[in-house]
Amino acid sequence: MSDQAIETLFEEDRRYPPPTEFTAQANAKPEIHDIPFEEFWEREGRERVTWFEPFTSLLEWELPYAKWYGGGKINVAYNCLDRHVEAGLGDRVAFYYEGEPEGERAAITYEQLLDEVVRAANGLKALGVGKGTPVGIYMGMGPGLPVAMLACARLGAPHTVVFGGFSAEALADRLNDMRCEVLLTQDESYRRGTIVPLKRNADDALASCPGVRSVVVGQRTRGDVPMTSGRDITWNDLVEGQSTDPASCPCEPMDSEDLLYLLYTSGTTAKPKGIAHTTAGYLVGVASTHHYIFDLKPGLDVYWCAADIGWVTGHSYIVYGPLCNGATSVLYEGTPDFPDKDRWWEIVERYKVTILYTAPTAIRAHMKWGPEHAAKHDLSSLRLLGTVGEPINPEAWMWYRQHIGSDRTPIVDTWWQTETGMVLITPLPGITTTKPGSATKPFPGIDAGVVDDHGNDVGPGGGGYLVLKRPWPAMTRGIFGDEARFRATYWERFPGMYFAGDGARIDEDGDFWLLGRVDDVMNVSGHRISTIEVESALVDHQSVAEAAVCGRFDALTGQAIVAYVTLKGGEEGSVERLEELRNHVAVKIGPIAKPANIVFTPELPKTRSGKIMRRLLRDVAENRPLGDTTTLADPAVVSEIADRAEAQPTEE
Ligand code: PRX
Repeated sequence: MSDQAIETLFEEDRRYPPPTEFTAQANAKPEIHDIPFEEFWEREGRERVTWFEPFTSLLEWELPYAKWYGGGKINVAYNCLDRHVEAGLGDRVAFYYEGEPEGERAAITYEQLLDEVVRAANGLKALGVGKGTPVGIYMGMGPGLPVAMLACARLGAPHTVVFGGFSAEALADRLNDMRCEVLLTQDESYRRGTIVPLKRNADDALASCPGVRSVVVGQRTRGDVPMTSGRDITWNDLVEGQSTDPASCPCEPMDSEDLLYLLYTSGTTAKPKGIAHTTAGYLVGVASTHHYIFDLKPGLDVYWCAADIGWVTGHSYIVYGPLCNGATSVLYEGTPDFPDKDRWWEIVERYKVTILYTAPTAIRAHMKWGPEHAAKHDLSSLRLLGTVGEPINPEAWMWYRQHIGSDRTPIVDTWWQTETGMVLITPLPGITTTKPGSATKPFPGIDAGVVDDHGNDVGPGGGGYLVLKRPWPAMTRGIFGDEARFRATYWERFPGMYFAGDGARIDEDGDFWLLGRVDDVMNVSGHRISTIEVESALVDHQSVAEAAVCGRFDALTGQAIVAYVTLKGGEEGSVERLEELRNHVAVKIGPIAKPANIVFTPELPKTRSGKIMRRLLRDVAENRPLGDTTTLADPAVVSEIADRAEAQPTEE
């Protein structure tokens, strides 16, 4: 038996010190880590954003609620648009928009974006939207989506963006929970060459949302969609005849703690949680992290966060952080494999993207498809790569570095959550020596720790629970309408600390290694083993593109490890491969972690944001009826895995 909260077995010795040329020009200098926390956030609050009225108090902290930058008046849209145009930067491109159908492109400048936002805000005002009116947004990845968000921010109307892949039911739950009065949507969107019927879904949702009185419908595909008279108007009609003059619709001066948006996270079973983000602390947090972590040089860099704006990554690092910093970004509507698997690399080459930020799930998909797609394109403009969303297997990190970053660019593995609003654990390029698979160190001003079951620090080399020990500006201000759930989920497990729900290890250098959700930890003969380490050992084998493991009941050992493995290049599984992989895990991390069975499968079950759903794999492994599959990107994948699990031989 072990007394470790989570045992760690994986050894990773590769080290990548920052290239000297990068260090010489980096936004982050080593002294940044020495600045006392209050001084750091005070300075960022004064320098990173423009205030209508300066703040008078930095932080009031009454667990679990923080108030940052008290007494200040500020507007997020003003910071993202007006101030850049006023500074003479109106001609700078804000977004290179690339539609999914080939050839649909537009370079949208800050001035054009401001025009669109002012027109839309004037139109919304005419619909009765003002400070405090809750607005739902259900749109695809086009320029209309940031325009909609910024128009709301300009008016002080809090928004909730619902990812365009969500169903009518999910949309209705969110609109009702926030009590939205207006919905901004569009006719349809494109996804991998097919049509997503957004307006039809919205109509189905609205049947059970009596509070929504107006619906604005953008025209993307110009498909024929039903319009309900008296309730629905087209985007064109909304903005027709409206002024683009910023003075015609001044930015609402907001209190620092006014609500900017809610973003719902689908907990795996329970009702979605409306994670609340307020104005000033959020903006300072995302702008500051974006500046240092992505080393942004406005006007020079072409930055591409390839997430969907419907997730927090898109809110913080496509819309609010980058625009606040005056960045030039790529905004891509479609999927990485449409019409072909080199679409992303074609985009990188076309716009000479310098900074690319994506998720491990996308990197593993590219690994599965093979490096030849990237090799067809000139990726030499890239100077920095980032990842977010899940722990990254060291071999996926290496693949990203070698095949996308020409074995030259630093990689920032950024840990954070919808709830944290901004990145909290990350390398700073130019300073940090990186290690494949480690998110390395807390961002300046952040106090993170790894604790055992009693809330004591595990110390170097130990594994346990990731906690945050003091507030940060972009932290959530709670779950909308559910204080008890907010306290219970994040603040009661370890008194005085924020519990993230993730396992982590801290190494001798003080670097953090994220181990996945603690609910996924397996217990084999009393050893608490994290899924990510066994998965990384599998992905370390040259034939494996992706792996997910989970525990199943075992009379002898408590739990036995079951692995689901996707091989590279479409290879089918075989008994020989199975034995080879089991032995590989035994050699790489030890016999205790050897999977009892391995199921070969071409796909793994994932949420719509790309995270592997191990809970469903546990259901398959224990022959239980499948639990809730509504958050899956492709529900058919689990039943196929269940069939394969039955058909394939198991060892032992
Ligand atoms: O488990 C961690 C994982 O994603 C969770 C947060 O998910 P979500 O709220 O959807 O936000 C995703 C984008 C910020 C975390 O609790 N996670 C996120 N980034 C990493 C990560 N796990 C390991 N390493 C990361 N870099």
